[in-house]
Amino acid sequence: MPKAEVHVHLEGAIELADLLEAAADADAALPGPAATLFDPSTHRLRPGGSELSTYLEFLDWVGSLYGSRQRLARLAYRFAARQSASGVRYTDVIVNPSHWGAWRHDLPGFFDALASGLDEAEADGLAPVGLCASIERGQTAAEAAELASIIAERRPRRVVALSIDGDEGRHGRTAARFADAFDIARRAGLGRTVHAGESSGPEGVWDALTLLHADRIDHGVRAVEDDRLVAHLAEAGVSLGICPSSNLALGVVDRLGVHPVQRLMESGVVVTINSDDPAPLATSIEAEWAMCAAAFGWDGSTLVDLARASVRASYASAEVRAVLESELDAQAAHAEHAELDRLGATARLLEATP
Ligand code: ADE
Ligand code: ZN
Repeated sequence: MPKAEVHVHLEGAIELADLLEAAADADAALPGPAATLFDPSTHRLRPGGSELSTYLEFLDWVGSLYGSRQRLARLAYRFAARQSASGVRYTDVIVNPSHWGAWRHDLPGFFDALASGLDEAEADGLAPVGLCASIERGQTAAEAAELASIIAERRPRRVVALSIDGDEGRHGRTAARFADAFDIARRAGLGRTVHAGESSGPEGVWDALTLLHADRIDHGVRAVEDDRLVAHLAEAGVSLGICPSSNLALGVVDRLGVHPVQRLMESGVVVTINSDDPAPLATSIEAEWAMCAAAFGWDGSTLVDLARASVRASYASAEVRAVLESELDAQAAHAEHAELDRLGATARLLEATP
């Protein structure tokens, strides 16, 4: 199924073996035993933090391993290969420079290194990837504006959007702090995607829409608690980048059977299904799709609709979107013919039955 992935973090897509290799090359001590690096108990570098906050601190360690341009480019290349192997034809990947300590004072160099790996990947026939430059929730207004200005003015290759991720539960209702940064991105015609309604309730989603003019919400599952918000999302066509395994791991949702994704879809909200942090979550986009299809009984045509929603929600170029949409048209027609053939065969069988 040709599809896009629009909610996946570069920091959360590095396989254990690659991390161990990067740590060995950087001569860096591991935060815990090698086999447990992805275990939540190993992320607890600071006692008492929430699971999300301690995971984000773990990402600071991950980012610290990639100080050279060559390592970063290689990492980006491997990410594109990973996505292509999952059948993803276009990805918007979230990358948060605050985790990559060595690059704090050279953000253009940081994006350029990633873009060179992605360029090489695409030249080798792997699927294109766009970068969503992300602010961490605990950053200052000045840091956020600096990132926004760099991407708006210097237009680093492959950067398609400004994003915010991080722990809203820890930092509280901070959207107003980032309004200037998002205004810079909006005026520059960049995409705007915001983590909200995960560690915050519906008010976090409202803030993302009204204060940051987000055109896409990452997670957003807790929007389901506010009927007026659900109606607004459906009406405005703002899509939610849902990540079921991530929600289960962080306790946002108790079990898959009660995940709001189904109710949101039935209410007319556009949703996409994504992997978030696939390496530590031991998941993949195809696993997320398969798991939801089994839990909610999604048929072939629902999956085609979801694939189409992922392409439309993405910040892919008009050319890439047109190619994927026409392939999906063919897939939809095929699914319809297969269904008609099946019905025809059943009818013939019934006619032949005395
Ligand atoms: N950064 C990486 N994964 C995240 C998540 N699930 N929520 C917020 N920020 C993140
Ligand atoms: Zn995320």
